[in-house]
Amino acid sequence: MTEYVTRFTLRQRLEHICVMSLFLTLSLTGLPQKFYQSGWAETMILWMGGIDRVRWLHRAAGILFTLVTFTHLTTAIGLVMTGRSNLSLVPTRQDFTDAIVTLKYYLGTSDLKAKFGRFDYRQKFEYWGLVLGAVIVIATGMVLLFPLLVARFLPGALIPAAKLAHGNEALMAFLVVILWHIYNAHLSPDVFPFDTSIFTGKVSRERMEHEHPLEWAEIEERRRRRSRSVWVK
Ligand code: HEM
Repeated sequence: MTEYVTRFTLRQRLEHICVMSLFLTLSLTGLPQKFYQSGWAETMILWMGGIDRVRWLHRAAGILFTLVTFTHLTTAIGLVMTGRSNLSLVPTRQDFTDAIVTLKYYLGTSDLKAKFGRFDYRQKFEYWGLVLGAVIVIATGMVLLFPLLVARFLPGALIPAAKLAHGNEALMAFLVVILWHIYNAHLSPDVFPFDTSIFTGKVSRERMEHEHPLEWAEIEERRRRRSRSVWVK
């Protein structure tokens, strides 16, 4: 029988659902505003009930997205500071070595495969790309949300600049999610046709051994130590 390991907590799974649905709403309501001159954008805006509703939806989802991001970052900092979580998502020198080792493996110049812990360098890159992208869209989105307030303290030229940065960062984030994330979650041979782990929280023992061997070794060591202490008692 297949053994399953809990990889994601309930809080992490709920956070993923929130970010996923808000990102989808923001893309569906934001991108047609950026490309308003195209026929497809006009059709989408009409289909969603007109430009006023689309703008309202985008602003409401933007505020919720800001709250979710703020809660995520403050909770993560709190968990690390109280020792209830470690810095497994922080990039280290080993990640650069792993990237080079993997590149050589895929180019067929080496048989050596990198061994990963809880998160590999691609997952860390994707996470920090999302955090940085979120900080940019939130900061520029706030400028677009409160232009008069911003212009009272800062140069007015900041508002068209924020609009350009907001739209372009949003487009880049959308393309990264479509191309990179969909490949990793659906099309990669390791998980095809669908990686369910972020919804169920569970990953099979085989996948852990294959994708995160260093973390799996730590889990086994912890299990061994626990069973030894029960035995001593
Ligand atoms: C990943 C998330 C987001 C995406 C994909 C996105 C996408 C977009 C796009 C493509 C535009 C059109 C820009 C243009 O016309 O050149 C836009 C406009 C706008 N966005 Fe966002 N956005 C996101 C997050 C946010 C957030 C977090 C906020 C608020 C804090 C926000 C507030 C606004 C505002 C106020 C506008 C101007 C349109 C209006 O006046 O209603 N957006 N967004």
